[in-house]
Amino acid sequence: MKSKTPEQSKTVLTDMVLPGETNALNNLFGGELLARMDRAASIAAGRHSRCITVTASVNHVAFTKVVPLGSVVTVEAKVSRAFRTSMEVCIDVWIEDRKSGDKTKVNEAIYTFVAVDKNGKPTAVPEITPETPIEKERFKAALRRKQLSLLLAGKIKPNDATELKALFD
Ligand SMILES: CC(C)(COP(=O)(O)OP(=O)(O)OC[C@H]1O[C@@H](n2cnc3c(N)ncnc32)[C@H](O)[C@@H]1OP(=O)(O)O)[C@@H](O)C(=O)NCCC(=O)NCCS
Repeated sequence: MKSKTPEQSKTVLTDMVLPGETNALNNLFGGELLARMDRAASIAAGRHSRCITVTASVNHVAFTKVVPLGSVVTVEAKVSRAFRTSMEVCIDVWIEDRKSGDKTKVNEAIYTFVAVDKNGKPTAVPEITPETPIEKERFKAALRRKQLSLLLAGKIKPNDATELKALFD
């Protein structure tokens, strides 16, 4: 399979925050943002693999800023690294100022998707070749995050988490 770039999977969803999607403080409900990020990431993983993809884990989410009612929210997802059947997808979220159009980053997240066949069995995906400095940085750190996720899920033993062990050597 021919290697692809993160840019080839880039997926941008822009939508606004409506009253039914907010919490008691009139800010975007966290679960609503998680769903929007899941949708964008799923499309990005599908673009990379050209397969059905399922969410395997949500590895990291940081709700650093509130997203007020009426905000225009842009969710951008790109595959940061592909392994054999799984893909790490990095998601960045911005809101834009109505008057100036200036964008403020409000959230970032990292999800893992697995490409599956029509029976739900994991299937191989193309490799990825990062191009920009941030894509290269995210690619490099992805193996460490995969090992952490598998360790927390009880799918590998601490001794097999070589990238994590290297942090403490
Ligand atoms: C995700 C799923 C396909 C994995 O199936 P599995 O039988 O565990 O398959 P494997 O153990 O071979 O794992 C497949 C890949 O997923 C990765 N993976 C599995 N669990 C993971 C986790 N918690 N974190 C990171 N990667 C994970 C494996 O490392 C492997 O990656 P690789 O092939 O690139 O090395 C299966 O658990 C599933 O279908 N889950 C439900 C998905 C779903 O419905 N999501 C929506 C929830 S509402």
